[in-house]
Amino acid sequence: MILETILSSISHDGIVNFAPMGLHISDTDLERSPVKRIVFRLYPGSQTYENLKATGQGVINFTDDVLVFVETALYSGCPPSVPSQKVRPPSMAHASTIWEFTVTRFDPSTEPAFLEGKIEHREQRGGFAGFCRAQGAVLEAAIAATRWQWLPMGKIIDPWPVWLELVQKTGGNREREAFNKVGSFLVGKGIQVPIVSGDGRKASL
Ligand SMILES: Cc1cc2nc3c(=O)[nH]c(=O)nc-3n(C[C@H](O)[C@H](O)[C@H](O)COP(=O)(O)O)c2cc1C
Repeated sequence: MILETILSSISHDGIVNFAPMGLHISDTDLERSPVKRIVFRLYPGSQTYENLKATGQGVINFTDDVLVFVETALYSGCPPSVPSQKVRPPSMAHASTIWEFTVTRFDPSTEPAFLEGKIEHREQRGGFAGFCRAQGAVLEAAIAATRWQWLPMGKIIDPWPVWLELVQKTGGNREREAFNKVGSFLVGKGIQVPIVSGDGRKASL
């Protein structure tokens, strides 16, 4: 399965970066709790790709805060962080769980590149908050927005009304703000999409 996470990494110069990345874990590895081996598939061109290739350390931050996903994916956001125990990149202060890891294999010969890592330290800081369907919709919109240059326009425009309805019906303020930030990003790229008004009704940008 793939779990959507925020990955912290660091450059040679010590500049910290946060970005959403999908963590690949097999059912077998999940059953062998605690998980020891992790895999990411990284597209070239991101700062995360460069950092992990260069410095080989990262932190996997688990959070249900979709606003952090949108801000780090589309606006170079840097959430509040705290120092790590075993690696140089810090972790997200408000993550519910963090896994610090070192890279054991980085294979750039495939696209996306294949990264395998070993978990060096883990911390559980919060509990499971429950499913919210709007969060899934925001994640879908955000990942599509990160690929706006390559995706056929229909892959963004066609599902947008479904995502919008889910955010309107089931989201809270944070989901609405996050979804609107994806919308603003797309409008900035010339892709016209409607957004959600403060009271949950549909509004236009
Ligand atoms: C939910 C979500 C999951 C993502 N998963 C991946 C992934 O597995 N691999 C990847 O290369 N990019 C993934 N992306 C896209 C990167 O987050 C995006 O390219 C980001 O801008 C990279 O930021 P950076 O340049 O600061 O590293 C994902 C984006 C989102 C919103």
